[in-house]
Amino acid sequence: MPNQTDRPGDGRLALITGASSGIGEALAVRLAAHGWRVVAAARRRAALEALAERASGPGRIIPQVLDVTDADAFAALVTTVEADHGEIDTVILNAGDYEPVRLDELDAAVFERLIRVNYLGTVNGLAACLPAMRRRGRGQVLVMGSLSAYRGLPRAAAYGSTKAAVLSLAESLRPEAERAGIALRVVSPGFVKSRLTERNDFRMPQLMDPADAAAAIHAGIDGNGFEVFFPRRLGWTLKLLRLLPYRLYFALMRRLA
Ligand SMILES: NC(=O)c1ccc[n+]([C@@H]2O[C@H](COP(=O)([O-])OP(=O)(O)OC[C@H]3O[C@@H](n4cnc5c(N)ncnc54)[C@H](OP(=O)(O)O)[C@@H]3O)[C@@H](O)[C@H]2O)c1
Repeated sequence: MPNQTDRPGDGRLALITGASSGIGEALAVRLAAHGWRVVAAARRRAALEALAERASGPGRIIPQVLDVTDADAFAALVTTVEADHGEIDTVILNAGDYEPVRLDELDAAVFERLIRVNYLGTVNGLAACLPAMRRRGRGQVLVMGSLSAYRGLPRAAAYGSTKAAVLSLAESLRPEAERAGIALRVVSPGFVKSRLTERNDFRMPQLMDPADAAAAIHAGIDGNGFEVFFPRRLGWTLKLLRLLPYRLYFALMRRLA
C-alpha cells in the first residue's frame, strides 16, 4: 500500500495558483508525477509553459495565465477549466507576495500590494471555486497561510497581517464549508527557499527546499485536520509563543527586531 506522501492522484484535477515558481511550482510537479492533472495558474505565461513541458507523467500540467487580484478573471478561469477538463477536485490558493518592512520605511503601497494578492486574491479564489463545490457537495480547498500568521513578528508588519487575515478567513468559513461537504484548510509553512525569502537579510531557521514543502503539502491533501504546518519544530515553537503573555513575548521579540 502506498504511504500517505506517495498517494496517487488517479487523474484527479487540481488547480494551483502561484504555480510559476517556488512552492506552487514544486507542488505542481509533484502532483503531476503522482498522477494528478494540474491546472497551474500565475501571471508569467512563459514560466508556466516551461513547467508544463518539464512535467513528467503519469499526470500532466495545464498552464493558465491568471492574475488572482482580478475576481472576474478568476471566476471565468474556473468556469472554463471545468467545461474543458471536468470537475476541479482540489484547489490550492498559493499565489503570494512578500516584502519585509521596517518602522522607518512604512509605505502604504506595499501594504496594499500584499493585501491585494495574499488576502483578496485568496478571497477571489474562494468566491470563484466554492459555488460549484457547494452544488456538488464535495471538494477541497487549501489556502496558503504562514507560521508568521500566529503573532506579529519583526519585519512582517505588512506580510504577517495578510497571512493572519487568511487564517482568520479560513477559520471563519470552515464550519459552514464542512457542512456543505467541502474541506477548507490552511497550509502554514515556515521558511522555504524561494524568490520571496531571497528578500530576507536575516538568518532563517530551518529553511526548507520547495520540494520538501511540496511533499509536506501533498501529505496533507485529503487529511482530516484544519492545518498543514511545517517544519514541525519551528511550527510548535511558534505555537508556544502564541501562548506567551505580551510582557514575555515582547522581551523575546526585542532581541529579533
Ligand atoms: N517561501 C516561504 O518561506 C513561505 C513561507 C510561508 C508562506 N509562503 C507562501 O507560499 C506561497 C508561495 O510563495 P513562494 O515562497 O513559493 O514564492 P514565489 O516563488 O515568489 O511564488 C509566488 C507565486 O505567486 C505568483 N503570484 C504572485 N502574484 C500573483 C498574482 N497577482 N496573480 C497570480 N499569481 C501571482 C507568482 O507568479 P507570477 O509572478 O508568475 O504571477 C509565483 O508563482 C505564498 O503565498 C507565500 O506567501 C511562503
